[in-house]
This record gives sequence, structure tokens and C-alpha cells, in this order.
Amino acid sequence: MNMLAPARPDLSARRADFPILGQRVHGKPLVYLDSAASAQKPEAVIDAMARAMRTQYANVHRGLHAMSEAATEAYEQTRDVVARFINAPDRSEIVFTRNSTEAINLVAHAYGGALLAPGQAVLISEMEHHANIVPWQMLRDARGIELRVCPITDAGELDLEAMAALLADGKVGLVAVTHMSNVLGTYTPARRIADLAHAHGARLLLDGSQAVVHRAVDVQALDTDFYVFTGHKLYGPTGIGVLWARHDILEAMPPFLGGGDMIGSVTFARSTWARVPHKFEAGTPAIVEAIGLQAAIFYVQTIGLEAIAAHEAALTDHALTRLADIKGLTILGRAQDRGGVVSFTLDGVHAHDIATLLDRQGIAVRAGHHCAEPLMHRLKVSSTARASFALYTTHEEIDVLAEGLERVRTLFA
Ligand code: ALA
Repeated sequence: MNMLAPARPDLSARRADFPILGQRVHGKPLVYLDSAASAQKPEAVIDAMARAMRTQYANVHRGLHAMSEAATEAYEQTRDVVARFINAPDRSEIVFTRNSTEAINLVAHAYGGALLAPGQAVLISEMEHHANIVPWQMLRDARGIELRVCPITDAGELDLEAMAALLADGKVGLVAVTHMSNVLGTYTPARRIADLAHAHGARLLLDGSQAVVHRAVDVQALDTDFYVFTGHKLYGPTGIGVLWARHDILEAMPPFLGGGDMIGSVTFARSTWARVPHKFEAGTPAIVEAIGLQAAIFYVQTIGLEAIAAHEAALTDHALTRLADIKGLTILGRAQDRGGVVSFTLDGVHAHDIATLLDRQGIAVRAGHHCAEPLMHRLKVSSTARASFALYTTHEEIDVLAEGLERVRTLFA
């Protein structure tokens, strides 16, 4: 054994924390390789949510009774936990949304709609999820904001020279790019992008939906202006997401949705807004889901993001090696800095057939355009199959995937 090599963390005992992983599918042990779409939930999250509904459930921010106070305290505690998780300078900068998609729509509407002027531009990239494309197209069409697209290299990395050229005229008000591609696994050099954007007078939004799950995120070190992520990929529930933005930016933004809980006062003539962040949280929020997100963050913090990152890096290396041995299989993306997402095609087999035949063997992968149709066009494919890893994924499961793919290949040969 090389004593200098870092020990690969053994997270196998953690599988027992995820009750669903003991299931069989089509008579085979479940091999769940679709965590980038949605991660499975540990008992800690399931228990926290059930406990909240059993013992301290009421609406938040409204009641003067004990149950409402307890629910409010638990809900608001999540704001502190999220703030510490991403090293936000202030808890009031954490806005709860339904998911990353809603967070980006909030920024497009409230920041783009009010604080970007017609003639300014938003710069996205070729490897964005539809959630970071369509809201900007809607803004472009509604407000005359130009939409620019930064190309990627053949390795699947952002072309930073092209990005600098697209920023050069100073018209870009906002750069909105992924922090980790959901298709290629590429980590984008967020801090360099922030420096580039700021040097040209633009702000930066990072879509951290995939990145935040696999590595520690520090919004201050990244020097970003906006960061968004969703709970359900982070081992938490659906229906809860996060927008972080700097306090002064949130203060300058008008509300996104109107309704209860986001107001200071209301008359038929006019309304005033609650303070940040409540100005952006109209209506009864996802109370139980926020409590679930808090439990999910505690769960990953207990294991440690560094251990999770090291485990997933080893899994990804193993997957890249095993899949490269399969005849006719092409892996898409060769980024230097990548996370636990591997997309591939298999000669002569449609991605949907790959996924269906793997499913028969108990193996869950995603197939299709992965909500990234423009990236599919760039890669000159209509769809790919995608295996994605989580802290509970094992090396043996990747071997099962490789063997399953060999079977698919033989069937179509
Ligand atoms: N955005 C999720 C994915 O990439 C659904 O699969």
C-alpha cells in the first residue's frame, strides 16, 4: 500500500441509513445511479419530517400559540443552518424557494426585470440546464435584454477566452452559469468566472444544483453574487430550494410573488413589503420540507463534504476506467475538474433502450436530453444515458453497471 496516497474513505456503512437502498427492482438488488436527478433520503431526513408533523406542526410566522412558535423556530433555524453551510455572511440572505428553477426565475424576474436595462445582456453557457436558459429567454423577450451564450470546448469545459470576449463590451449585466454540469460532470472555475464577470461590471449567478451536493461551497470564497440550489439532490425533500444573494442586491430587488407573509402592510391603495428575506417568501412556505433540508445538511456535515468528495472522486475514476473498456461506448466530456456524473452513448443503441434494459437488471440510470437540449446539439447527440453517484454509491455498483452495459451491447450486437 502506498502510505502517501490518501486513504479512500469507506462510506459503505452509510448505505444502511437509506432504507430504499435495500429494495429489489425486477427481482434484482436496486443499483441506484440516478442521484443527479434526485438523491435518496436517509432516515435522519425522513424521521425529522415525520417528527415535525407528529409533534410540532402549525403554520409559521403567524401564530401566537406554542405550536406555531415551535414550527417557526424550526423553520427559521434552517435559515441559520443553510447560511453556515454555504458560509453566507448573513442569515437574512437565505431565501427559501421551491427549487433551483424557482430561484433562478425569481432572479430573472426581480433582478433581471427591474435592475437590468434593455440593451444590457445576460451571459449563460452552452452547458446549462433548461432552468438556467428558459427564464433568461423569457426575460429577453419581455424586456429586450440580450441573451449571450458562452461556448464550451470539446473537452466540455467553459471557454474562458470566449467568455472574456463576450464580456468585453461591458454590456453584460449578469453572468449565469452552472457550477457543475448535470450532463458532463464538469466543475466550472467559479472564482475565475467571478473575477472575469466583476472586472467587466457584471454580476455572477451560479447554479449550484449539482455542485453543492458533492463539495463544500463557500459563497464568499467564490465571490459570487447569487447562488442557487435545491434540497432534493442534497438528500433532502422535494419542494424546498435556496436562493442566496448579497444583502444589498436582495434589498434592491422588488418582490417576485405577492401574497401573505411578504408584506409590511396592505391597503387597497398600496402595499409595502416585509424585510429581506421575507419579501421573497409569499404564502405558507414549505415548513416540513425546510426542516427536512436542515436534517439533510446536518447529515452530510456529519459525514463531511471532504470525505464525500473523495469517495465520489474515486467512484468517478473507477467508472471512467470501467466504461472506457466497453466497445462502442463513448463518454461525453473530459473535463479536468469533474464530479460524479458520467454521460455516455453506446453505438447502435438508443439511450432509452440502454436505460430500459439496465432497469430490467435493477440498475437505475437517466436517459434523454437531461433538460439540456442545447448541450445535446453542441455534442451532436439526441440523447445520452447518464450514471450519477452519491455518497451511498459503491464500487461494486459501478461494476454491476459495466456488466449490465456489456449485456446491453451483446444484445444489440
Ligand atoms: N436536473 C435533474 C437532472 O439533471 C432533473 O437529472
